[in-house]
Amino acid sequence: MRHINIAIDGPAGAGKSTIAKAIAKKRNLIYVDTGAMYRAMALYFLRKGIASDDVEAIEQEIPKVDVSIHYENGEQIVMLNGENVNALIRTPEVGNMASTVSVHKKVREKLVELQRALAVKTSVVMDGRDIGTMVLPDAKVKIYLTASVDVRAGRRQAELAEKGIVSDFETVRQEILDRDKRDMTRKHSPLCKAEDAVEVDTSDMSMAEAVEAIEAVVAEREQAGAKQSI
Ligand code: DC
Repeated sequence: MRHINIAIDGPAGAGKSTIAKAIAKKRNLIYVDTGAMYRAMALYFLRKGIASDDVEAIEQEIPKVDVSIHYENGEQIVMLNGENVNALIRTPEVGNMASTVSVHKKVREKLVELQRALAVKTSVVMDGRDIGTMVLPDAKVKIYLTASVDVRAGRRQAELAEKGIVSDFETVRQEILDRDKRDMTRKHSPLCKAEDAVEVDTSDMSMAEAVEAIEAVVAEREQAGAKQSI
C-alpha cells in the first residue's frame, strides 16, 4: 500500500478528532491525536505544581517527561512516564494547561520529534495545530478544519455533558476564544492554515457530512497523486 499521510489542523471543537478517527478507520490508517501528547505533558506540569509561564522549571523538567503512545484495539493510549493517562487528560483544566505550555519551544521540539517518527514508520491521519505547517509539511493531504465559535462551543458543551459535566455556554465559549487566541498568536508554530491545505467549514454540517466532505478531498488528492506518478 502506498504511504499517505493526512494532516488535519484547526481550532478546538472544529471536529478534528471525530473526523480524523473516521477517516483513519475507513482507510485502515493509524490515527495520531497530537493534542493528547500536549495534554499528557501538561498533566505532568500540573501535578508538579509548575506554572505554565515558568520557563526555567519547564525546561529543567522536560528531559524527565516521557510521553509515548501505543494502540490497544485501535485506540490511542497515551503513556506519561509509563502510566496510561487517557482517562485523565480530557478535562478543561488539562486542555487549558496544554494550550499554555505548548507555547514553549522546547516542549514543542520534544513532541514534534515523536510525531514525525510515527509518520515515517506508517501512514497516519494526524490532527493538531501545526501538522500541515510544521510536523508533516510534505503530507499528501492537508485539511484545515474550522467552524464558527458558537458551533464549536455548543459541541464542546455537548461533549462535556456526555461525560456528566454540566457547563455554562458562555464560559465554554469564552474558553474557546481564549484558546484560539493563544494557539493562533503564539511565537512558535502558531495555528494557521498551510498554504496548500483545503479549508473545510463544518459549522453547518453534521459529523457524517463533514467526514464525507473530507473523504472527497482525500480521494481527489490521491487521484491527483496517482496521475502525477504515472
Ligand atoms: O486538540 P486539543 O484540544 O487536545 O489540544 C490541546 C492544546 O494542545 C491546544 O490548545 C494547543 C496544543 N496543541 C498544539 O499546540 N499543537 C498540536 N499539534 C496539538 C495541540
